[in-house]
Parts: sequence; structure tokens; C-alpha cells
Amino acid sequence: MKKIALITGASSGIGKELAIIHAKAGGDLVIVARNTEKLIQLKGEIEEKYQVTVHVISKDLSIKESVDQLFKEITDKGISINYLINNAGFGEYGEFQNTSWDREEKMIALNITTLTQLCKLFIPHMIRHGGGRILNVASTAAFQPGPLMAVYYATKAFVLHFSEAIGEELKDTGITVTALCPGATQSNFFNDAQMNDSKLVKGKKLPSSEDVANYGYRAMKKGKSVAIHGIGNFLLANSVRFSPRFLVLKMVKFIQRKSI
Ligand SMILES: NC(=O)c1ccc[n+]([C@@H]2O[C@H](COP(=O)([O-])OP(=O)(O)OC[C@H]3O[C@@H](n4cnc5c(N)ncnc54)[C@H](OP(=O)(O)O)[C@@H]3O)[C@@H](O)[C@H]2O)c1
Repeated sequence: MKKIALITGASSGIGKELAIIHAKAGGDLVIVARNTEKLIQLKGEIEEKYQVTVHVISKDLSIKESVDQLFKEITDKGISINYLINNAGFGEYGEFQNTSWDREEKMIALNITTLTQLCKLFIPHMIRHGGGRILNVASTAAFQPGPLMAVYYATKAFVLHFSEAIGEELKDTGITVTALCPGATQSNFFNDAQMNDSKLVKGKKLPSSEDVANYGYRAMKKGKSVAIHGIGNFLLANSVRFSPRFLVLKMVKFIQRKSI
């Protein structure tokens, strides 16, 4: 039977690639983001190429009511979600004293609250239907504090810890939970966070969103708990545990600084 995936943030980057990969595998989709035009274009491309059904739902998922509305729209249509992919998210760059609270409040709402609520709503539904898979997009930012992106790093630490914890609780229910942890990746993320001048990205050859999405999709299908993309990222993420915290903070701040 065709598996149906709900993907948030499917209008660009990693989420868009995840949608294409799932369609290629023969699955139907519910794709969500704010940009209706991009979602409709993606629906057209996917349906024509892969003979699957794509439902478009435009929502600003940083708005509190939007999550309940999304769940209602899906259940009213009689759609049963097999794969929940919480991918929508964004960052904000700069010293916390100077960054925009408006953006940070929305970031916490999207990266943390919406992701958590979608899990809360869909888990009982998945249990009733005999199981399912959840892919929560965290980041290598999840493994340490992040000076110059303090709120973003903290949101991703939440995603990682929350995903691992509920994954453990859900053992034996037929539901697996995977936290995908990409390192810096080509997408609209750095434009949006206005950090193209950061040493983290400037002049660097970053992996494509397609590579990261392929890796994440495979990890989700295997039911892997934590999936860190790339051997370098894997080693860095794990080395943090054995390094003095003051040193880790200095290193992250250095890497995130503007390259001049
Ligand atoms: N790129 C990286 O280096 C990197 C590294 C680690 C983790 N990540 C994580 O990967 C995930 C995907 O990011 P990306 O790199 O693919 O960036 P991206 O190209 O900017 O994609 C972000 C997606 O989230 C959607 N989105 C943003 N705000 C939204 C809102 N309020 N409501 C609904 N959808 C919203 C965007 O669509 P609309 O604008 O149409 O709403 C877009 O589809 C994020 O969770 C990010 O934190 C990225």
C-alpha cells in the first residue's frame, strides 16, 4: 500500500528534496509551507513525473492555531499519515542582545512548539494504524551551545533530545523516531538567516540538500535514532562530549564569526 508522508517546509531545500525522494519511492504526500506558489509548482512537477497524489496545504506554522488547523484539514480529508517529517525551521544570526525577538519567538514556535505538537497529534493516530515513522530535522547545532546563534542551537538541542526520548518511549509500538542532524548544507537557510559571510559557509563547498535528504530518508526508513550526515560532522558532534565546554564555546564562536 502507498505510504503517505506529511512534510513541513517542503517548498525549498531539504524538505523539497525529501518530498521528491518519497514520491520517487511511490508514496503520496501532504506538503506544507507558507509559499503556496512554490508548493503548487512542486505538486505539478511531482504528480506528472511520479504518478502519485500530492496535497498542498499552505500554512504559517509559527502561528499557534495553524497546527490544529493542519491536523483537522488532514483528518477531515480522511488522510492517514504514515511518515511525519518535521523539517520546517529557520535560524537567526547575531549576538543575542542585537537579534530580533520577533524572529526568535517565531523560531521557537516553529522549530520547537509546532514540531512537538505535530508529534503529539499524530502519534496516537499512527498507533491506531499499526505504526509509522517520524523524521525530525535537528542539526549538528544540537550537540553544543552556539554563540552568535544562541536561540537556534538551543532549539535544535531540544529537537534532538525530545526525539531520542520519545523514540525510546515508543519502542514496541511500531513507531520509530529519527533525529536527522545535518551540518551546513546548501539551501535557502543561510540567505534567510543573513549569514552568508559566516566562516561556517563562506567559500566552503557544502553538501547539497538532495544528499542530506537522501541520507535522512534512508535513516528514517531504517528507524535509526540519530542520523548525523557526513563523517566529519559525526566526528565533530561526538568529539564535543570529550572536550572542555569553555573550549567548545570559543571554537563555535570562532567558526560562526564573519569571515573578513
Ligand atoms: N541548511 C543547513 O545548513 C541546515 C543545517 C542543519 C539543519 N537544518 C535544518 O533543516 C531544515 C530545513 O532547512 P533548509 O536548510 O532546507 O532551509 P530552507 O531552504 O530555508 O527551507 C526551510 C523550509 O521551511 C519552511 N518554513 C520556514 N518558515 C516557515 C513557517 N513559518 N511556516 C511553515 N513553513 C516554514 C520554508 O518554506 P516557506 O518559506 O515557503 O514557508 C522552507 O520550505 C530546518 O529545520 C533547518 O533548521 C539546515
